[in-house]
Amino acid sequence: MNFSDEFKDKSVVITGAAGGLGKQTAIQYAAAGAKIVIGDLKIEQGQETAALMNASHPDCARFIHLDVTDRESVDALFKEAQETFGTVDILVNSAGISGQGFKPFGRIDLESWDLAYEVNVKGIVNCCKAALDIFVPKKAGKIVNVSSVSGRKPTPGLIHYAASKAAVNNLSQTLAQEVARFNINVNVVCPGWIWTPIYDESEPVKQMAQKLGKTPREFFLDMVDRYCPLKREQTEEDIANVILFLSSEAARNITGQAINVDGGSVMS
Ligand SMILES: NC(=O)c1ccc[n+]([C@@H]2O[C@H](COP(=O)([O-])OP(=O)(O)OC[C@H]3O[C@@H](n4cnc5c(N)ncnc54)[C@H](O)[C@@H]3O)[C@@H](O)[C@H]2O)c1
Repeated sequence: MNFSDEFKDKSVVITGAAGGLGKQTAIQYAAAGAKIVIGDLKIEQGQETAALMNASHPDCARFIHLDVTDRESVDALFKEAQETFGTVDILVNSAGISGQGFKPFGRIDLESWDLAYEVNVKGIVNCCKAALDIFVPKKAGKIVNVSSVSGRKPTPGLIHYAASKAAVNNLSQTLAQEVARFNINVNVVCPGWIWTPIYDESEPVKQMAQKLGKTPREFFLDMVDRYCPLKREQTEEDIANVILFLSSEAARNITGQAINVDGGSVMS
């Protein structure tokens, strides 16, 4: 989707943007004229992503090491973002983990529950707090949180992940109500099935596929075929398009919404 100069000189913080959906979103914001701070745990990959973007759009991107679970790390990133690009206009929370997936409830240990909530929920809380310190005084700002269709339906085998994503949906909608009076929009994108490192590098996915005599990619495509009425996987671009739309002026009257981009697997 072409947003041409829609985001010219807007400053965007994207967490988890070293790879996957966050990286693609960063690339699309750059093409639409934005300045982007890429925050991620993965230093080498994050630097490569920033270099790639700066090669096509000079000085558009900066990588800053970030652990969303650590409030000090989050505050430091927002401080540096303001120093580098003057302000922050948009926050996209894409950092997330699926953790120790595809196990029944009884075999998911408490550390996995803690980690899913620390990264997927508390990480968003930390980043929203830092962003709102900037957005509220200027009475402007957009937040887009990346959740999952797992947060909208029972997801056996991924209960800790699904519950954490359901929390993201509710916290985003409650926050949207609270900050609407400051002209701040908070929305959620719920991706369905996208082949990113979250699958590719997942040990549980590899093990499940192996048990069925399939490659991880074949296993993934089987799930797409089974669960998506449109019978096609979604792409990183599909998700980035919706994130950019939700943070654009065209969506100024949309807030507190959770949009599924999932080929129709969840219709509510
Ligand atoms: N890929 C899918 O099919 C899919 C489906 C539904 C939802 N999602 C959600 O989309 C988001 C992005 O996922 P992805 O598929 O791009 O996965 P990904 O693994 O490629 O990207 C996630 C990024 O988050 C970073 N990250 C993890 N913990 C962090 C922390 N504590 N601090 C900072 N960064 C951290 C990782 O280093 C990684 O670069 C996640 O929130 C995920 O739950 C993905």
